[in-house]
Amino acid sequence: MLNSFWNWFVIIITVGSILACWWLLHWTKGVSDRSEDEVGSTGHVWDDDLKELNTPLPRWWLHLFNITIIFALIYLVIFPGLGNFAGIKNWTQVDQYKAEIASATAAQESVFGRFRDMDLEALMADQEAMEIGARLFGNNCAMCHGSDGRGAKGFPNLADGDWLWGGSHEQVMHTINKGRIAAMPALGAALGEDGVREVVAYVQQLSGQKADPEMASAGQARFQMVCMACHGVDGKGNQALGAPNLTDDIWLYGSNPAEIEYGILNGRNGLMPAFENTLSEDRRNLLAAYVKNMSGS
Ligand code: HEC
Ligand code: HEC
Repeated sequence: MLNSFWNWFVIIITVGSILACWWLLHWTKGVSDRSEDEVGSTGHVWDDDLKELNTPLPRWWLHLFNITIIFALIYLVIFPGLGNFAGIKNWTQVDQYKAEIASATAAQESVFGRFRDMDLEALMADQEAMEIGARLFGNNCAMCHGSDGRGAKGFPNLADGDWLWGGSHEQVMHTINKGRIAAMPALGAALGEDGVREVVAYVQQLSGQKADPEMASAGQARFQMVCMACHGVDGKGNQALGAPNLTDDIWLYGSNPAEIEYGILNGRNGLMPAFENTLSEDRRNLLAAYVKNMSGS
């Protein structure tokens, strides 16, 4: 609601502008009514014979202007426009917004309502649920995890049944809801140049690659001191920290020694965004079921 000053300010400016337009139209229409030989001229002359003409607006054009004035008056009676006067229809943007939201919610309810009482198994078996899951995945997840969920360097494969943060329904829901931030620190300084090379050899050996046995066993000793806290004594990782299993041949950043070394020297901080505030609970549930289905576990 406008206070009474602004209320009248708006009314006077609005009505005043309309009246001014009306007056202008009639005033300019009159100017061309001059004496016989002066008809159609403003009386301005340059270079002796160059006259500025003042031909009146064609009648049909003039009427277009008149129609816009009539339109404005009718509009101001029906819709809000004159300060606090609500218009005879009582229309507001807020009401229209609410009505659109309500109809969108109702339309979604008819789609999502059916899935709400279903458990994970039932959702995974439901074709429509999985189709909607696939579309949601395409719109929200595929840019990082790939449209087939097979990931890319730095973005985990969700279709392989191997998990950084755990594959139970609760863990996947937690990943989607809250996001995940991996914290592998930079350890170059702690290990020294030789130490880094030895540890790289040990990681290669752990995952079944060929490595210099002497370097690897020196690396193992260092691993027990520096890496074990997160990756475990045996290098099998820790899902509570998102620390990958280093003994399999599944890699987030790549298996070659240069990638392994880069990660140890610079650290790694993979970031999975949280979707709690951007996707509705219904959608997140369907996505979790879709991911679970995709992983085949
Ligand atoms: C901006 C890129 C990005 C988007 C978008 C994204 N993710 Fe992720 N996601 C990641 C990264 C990076 C990781 C791995 C984090 C790490 O390094 O531990 C991850 C991890 C995950 C994991 C855990 C995998 C595991 O092995 O434990 C799941 C599950 C997952 N994402 C599902 C989703 C779903 C579902 C969506 C869509 C709603 C999504 N992600 C959207 C980047 C993304
Ligand atoms: C504080 C916990 C922590 C410590 C200590 C740690 N890491 Fe990690 N490491 C992680 C996490 C978490 C990731 C996953 C990073 C990501 O997802 O972006 C990771 C990732 C890796 C990777 C990449 C694996 C892949 O699949 O690409 C390698 C290799 C690795 N660490 C080796 C080591 C070595 C060797 C050490 C000791 C020198 C070490 N880490 C110490 C937590 C740790």
